[in-house]
Amino acid sequence: MYCVRKVDKDIYWVGANDNRLALFENIHPIPEGISYNSYVLLDEKTVLFDTVDWAVCGQFLENLEAVLKDRTLDYMVINHVEPDHAACIEEIILRYPEVKIICTKKAFVFMKQFGFIADRKVEEVKEGDTKSFGKHKVMFVTAPMVHWPEVMVTYDTTNGVLFSADAFGTFGILGGKLFNDEVDFDRDWIEYARRYYTNIVGKYGFNVQALLKKAGKLDIKTICPLHGPVWRSNLGYFLEKYDKWSRYEPEEKGVMIVYASMYGNTESAANNLAARLVEKGIKNVVVYDVSKTHVSYLISETFKYSHVVLACVTYNMKIYPPMLDYLEHMKALNLQKRTFALIENGSWAPQSGKLMHEFLDGMKEMTVLDEKVSLRSSMKKDETNPMEELADSIVQSINSSK
Ligand code: FEO
Repeated sequence: MYCVRKVDKDIYWVGANDNRLALFENIHPIPEGISYNSYVLLDEKTVLFDTVDWAVCGQFLENLEAVLKDRTLDYMVINHVEPDHAACIEEIILRYPEVKIICTKKAFVFMKQFGFIADRKVEEVKEGDTKSFGKHKVMFVTAPMVHWPEVMVTYDTTNGVLFSADAFGTFGILGGKLFNDEVDFDRDWIEYARRYYTNIVGKYGFNVQALLKKAGKLDIKTICPLHGPVWRSNLGYFLEKYDKWSRYEPEEKGVMIVYASMYGNTESAANNLAARLVEKGIKNVVVYDVSKTHVSYLISETFKYSHVVLACVTYNMKIYPPMLDYLEHMKALNLQKRTFALIENGSWAPQSGKLMHEFLDGMKEMTVLDEKVSLRSSMKKDETNPMEELADSIVQSINSSK
């Protein structure tokens, strides 16, 4: 059975949800599922904006047919060629052989690489080009490296609808609710959105800033992303989040404590610090076991908080591997502007603190507090002073930060 929603007078959502996929990009857990959004414009010409992942192609085709009724498909605008949106291009060509494809030059190259369009010709567009489909005239705005090089967004000048590709996307299935004002986004969706942004697009903050500048010149009334809810109200809320994330500014003053503990002693020290911080009035404290929490969630939380404590055992004279993996994800995603405090542990030669410090020194605009706690196997009563000093230093740093 088809499942479609009307977005605007002439625009329909014809996407589909995938609640079966365990790992997005075969790396990020998505227990909340994901939607692949695709949109159709019914004007003098009919226009499809992007397709969907192959896993939901059947539902998508049924939806498209239901909206087109007895009309054919005249155009397909491809904003992004990653297969979660472009895998059904070939199937569309088979069903609507006269369809004309509009995309950037780079997108054309990628489509051929993936084998989506064989030898077919396309209409290549570049920054600022426009195209009229009848009443609706759209403008193409390139968005390179948000988060692939071929990406563009398409702005409908007639009604202010922006087809934003992956920008403003989130994990999570829609479950019948298409618009941001049909859900409690700040309560139920923001964690999905942050985890999506930080892990998928996080590395490209500079490019997101460039897109936000371009978007600022358009009179955008509705944002139609390729994943998650469509935004038709309170756009400022999400734009502000994007601005903050892409500038790598923390959302909240607070402390994220991430510990790597083999036998519970480093965990005990991490909890000791957490309790001290809370007693000193810093209640926005979260504690994670690096071995139990998927790095995708750790990254998302690291983008959120201003301060991060790394408490880590020394393992084979190195940083404990899951902690190193977390640090490497952080670096790969270009995370910046955080303040760190370090707790190291080791039974004969603790040096994870020194190694983590060196790692953080190799990243942009990271501050490491001078106070450090160095443990031998477990925290003893006579080590409460260094821990108290570390807690005081964190509190002072939070209170003096912007
Ligand atoms: Fe949702 Fe970059 O694909």
